[in-house]
Parts: sequence; structure tokens; C-alpha cells
Amino acid sequence: MNQTELDQLVEKNFKYYKDGHVADYIPALGRVNPKQLGVALYDIQNNAQMSAGQANVRFAIESISKVPVLLLAIKDRGMKAVFEAVGAEPTGFAFNSILNMEINHLKHPMNPFVNAGALMTSSLVKGDTDEERFGRILSFMQELMNDDDITLDNEIYESEHATCSINRSLAYYELGNNMFPFDKDVEEIIDVYCKQCSILVTAEDLSRLGALLANNGVAPWSGKRLISQEAATITKSIMTTAGLYNQSGDYSFHVGVPSKSGVGGGLMVASPQKYGIGTFSPALDKDGNSVAGIHLLTDLVRDLNLNIF
Ligand code: DON
Repeated sequence: MNQTELDQLVEKNFKYYKDGHVADYIPALGRVNPKQLGVALYDIQNNAQMSAGQANVRFAIESISKVPVLLLAIKDRGMKAVFEAVGAEPTGFAFNSILNMEINHLKHPMNPFVNAGALMTSSLVKGDTDEERFGRILSFMQELMNDDDITLDNEIYESEHATCSINRSLAYYELGNNMFPFDKDVEEIIDVYCKQCSILVTAEDLSRLGALLANNGVAPWSGKRLISQEAATITKSIMTTAGLYNQSGDYSFHVGVPSKSGVGGGLMVASPQKYGIGTFSPALDKDGNSVAGIHLLTDLVRDLNLNIF
């Protein structure tokens, strides 16, 4: 893949923004310009980064934050404690559904990548106060994506916090069913969760997070191990089964690489041993996944022969 070919992939797939809509259930995200598409490719073997289109535009990480927060919870509490508090099974329901827990009388949320599960992993991150817990999440994200400029967007955070009644209901449902093993201050848990979703990243940042996972936890840019191999492996497996919510099966069928989406328009891909990929295009399909991003990834994965199956 050379620069011209990557530029052409952006040109070819840009038009698909017309098939989607920005996430207006969070008012600040509803104001983002949908006419954007960017891609960043981190080549692990050659330790080289390439990008095209809007790969340096900052946007809200949203649900992709569920990946670093899961990794930090594992680092803080260990694999066993985390997967006693949250499952690893896809739900088949929307990302903010309460039904899957209610119907099955579950004792814990089904996986760390739906909102109920992410509220749980967020509550597992260590910190005496919510400021400390959020501060640790932010620095961990800066480390995993090798970017000290990753910050919180206050306007998006306030907008999220003012409109998060469904997440609040999920958190109270979990509290009412005694699911939280440590922190029981639900409003604090919700606050940290809204903040982690409102962190701004670029497609290039996401390509580095993908590369770290693809390289089994060792940062290709420094040779330093940042997360355990086991944490990287487990995360990629859950990305494969639940990274794109109730579209994960279709996406695996058509694209076939561990990926995680967010309603800010980002997609983060870990192509084992080969590439980390980040895309950004804010217009989403009905399940909350970036339309042009998925089209571009379908082409890129086919051209580079990255389908893991
Ligand atoms: O909690 C929410 O609804 C958002 N802050 C994040 C959801 C999300 O990104 C789902 N992703 N596709």
C-alpha cells in the first residue's frame, strides 16, 4: 500500500457519509461536520505510519474508550476479578440495552464493550476519588496511544452528562442487583464513564492503539511492553465478537479483523502482527457504527489481505 493508494481509498469511500447520520442523541456530537473521512495505518513490521484524509482531526473517542478502560481495569484488579464482574459474551442487543440483563436474570453485564459492561470496568479502575480515577484513565490512554495531547473535551462531556439518562438507568440497575464489587457511588461511576467517552483522539492515535494490541501488548514505537500478552489477546477476541455491537457478526463475516467502534465516528482495528488501523468518519449507521469507515476498512482489509479467518 503506497500513499497514492491510501489517498484513493479515502476519495472512493468518502461519499458513503451520505448513508449515515451523526449521533445527535448526544447534542454536542450532533454538531460535528459529517463530511469527513480519515484513515491511519501503523505498519508494525516496518514501524512506519501512513495516513490520508482527516487522520489528524480530533474527535470524541466514545465507545472505543471501553478498550483502554478494560485494559486498565485488568492491570489494576487482575483478569480473574474483572471477568467475575463482567462477561465476555456478545449481547445481540443495542449497545445501551438493559433487556439482555433483565431477560436472562444476569448477575453481571454481558461484556465490557456494551455500556452496562463499560460502567462496570470503569468502576473497577483504582482511584480514591472520581478525579483520580479519571486522571489515571486519561494518562493511560496517552501512554497507550503515544500522544500527550489527548485531552477531555468539556463541551462534549457536559452534553453527555446532561443527556445520559439511559446510562444512568443501566448503572442503577446494576447497583440494585448488587453487581458492583467495589465502588458503589453510581453518580461517580457515571461521571467517570461520561468523561472517558468525551476524550478527544485522532485516527492516528487509534492506529497506535490498534498496533499495540496487534503487537500483543508491546508498543512498536518503543519496544516497551505496556499491557500483558493475555490482556491483548482477550481484548482482541472480545473486539471480534462484540466490537461493533449487534453488527459484530456481519462485520466479521464481511471484513474479518478485530475492531472497535465509537459513536464519535472512530474505528480502531488490530490486525494481528501486521497493522494497527484507525479511521474517522462521523456519520453512523443504525447500530452506531461509522458508515464510510466500514466501507474504507472493507477495501483496505481486502487489499492488504488482513482477514484473520
Ligand atoms: O454512552 C454512550 O451512549 C456514548 N457515550 C458511547 C456509545 C458508543 O460509542 C457506542 N458506539 N458505537
